[in-house]
Amino acid sequence: MNQRLFEKIDSIDIEDVTKSYGDFFAIKNLNLKIKGGELIALVGPSGSGKTTTLRLINKLIEPDNGTIKINDIDIKNLNPVKLRRNIGYVIQEIGLFPHMTVLENIGIISKLEGWSSDNVRKRVDEILNLFGLPAELYIKRYPKELSGGQQQRIGLARAIMVNPPLLLMDEPFGALDPILRRQLQEEFLKIKMELDKTIVFVTHDIDEAFKLGDRVAIMKDSQLVQVGEPDELILNPINKFVSDIVGSEKKFKHIDNLKVKDIMDPIESKYLFDSKMTANQAIQEMKNRNIEMGIILNKSNPLGIILFKELINLENKSQFIEEIYTKVVFLNANDCATSALLTLKNSNSFTALVTEKENLVGILLPNEVLLKLV
Ligand SMILES: Nc1ncnc2c1ncn2[C@@H]1O[C@H](COP(=O)(O)OP(=O)(O)OP(=O)(O)O)[C@@H](O)[C@H]1O
Ligand SMILES: [Mg+2]
Repeated sequence: MNQRLFEKIDSIDIEDVTKSYGDFFAIKNLNLKIKGGELIALVGPSGSGKTTTLRLINKLIEPDNGTIKINDIDIKNLNPVKLRRNIGYVIQEIGLFPHMTVLENIGIISKLEGWSSDNVRKRVDEILNLFGLPAELYIKRYPKELSGGQQQRIGLARAIMVNPPLLLMDEPFGALDPILRRQLQEEFLKIKMELDKTIVFVTHDIDEAFKLGDRVAIMKDSQLVQVGEPDELILNPINKFVSDIVGSEKKFKHIDNLKVKDIMDPIESKYLFDSKMTANQAIQEMKNRNIEMGIILNKSNPLGIILFKELINLENKSQFIEEIYTKVVFLNANDCATSALLTLKNSNSFTALVTEKENLVGILLPNEVLLKLV
């Protein structure tokens, strides 16, 4: 019932694969070796063939030419359903079933595989815990009762439910606003270690690719342009297309000229919270505003930040948030970016609020690539 074709992925070899629709090539002569245990990020403009590559790997579509081998076995000879038991797939639109609860959504594949209800529940608890979502609060909810970020996490939870050795993730954080996206990336980076899987991760966002990817594959017009580790791509882009995408100019040559305001995220009013709110009120507001981080203001003075995952775990939720906020580093918008990043790196706080003429103007969240450069 529960047999696996692969307990562990040693390699995926995509050799000279072409897929066309009529006269149009969705993928052209793709050659890509994916190493067991790595996270490889596929980056490229819309229509460049990223989703097609994932769909070829799990045999939702068949190539016209070429072969795909997993652990040296040509997947052409494998039964698609059996193959997919080894693969968790997070599709581009999350794809939760609206009429099913969180428990049913996450458990659907294990149920099909004949797991007992007890085992399903145990594993769902374990995974939700991994994402910092208390099971008792969430398992009975329907997707519409979840925030965007929570829905993304449930989509991911479903993909890892039966612990497949290979994960295909298609823009899993694509629909989120930039700040929430950064938070989910941080969270995912942490659990990536524990997951110990081979992951093919599609994204439009090069910073996300560099942050999460062991290697990054750049695609354009149905073809692979260059693949390598982030530093290799930044230092030795093979053409202007790659250097533009990886931002070699901005990230490298002119980093000394960048100011904090060039690398910060601007603040929107939905992130602002009055210091006299209670934790309970702030939790409710964060749900309403669909955010998981807030900035505490005393009148108009920023004090620090609050995080949803910390508020929800407080014993006494009637405390004012000014008593429990998290301290951050303060930077000036016109400070030099490199020295600001150094300050941030040395502070262990990894979040900075940015002011200009005493007004709060931005927030600086960790950026792996930039931190590597200082
Ligand atoms: N079933 C199909 N029939 C016809 N053309 C298709 C089909 N599926 C994909 N294509 C075309 O193949 C190309 C590659 O599509 P793909 O979905 O792989 O792009 P993508 O890189 O994932 O883009 P996006 O970033 O927008 O998701 C696109 O031009 C698309 O229109
Ligand atoms: Mg796509």
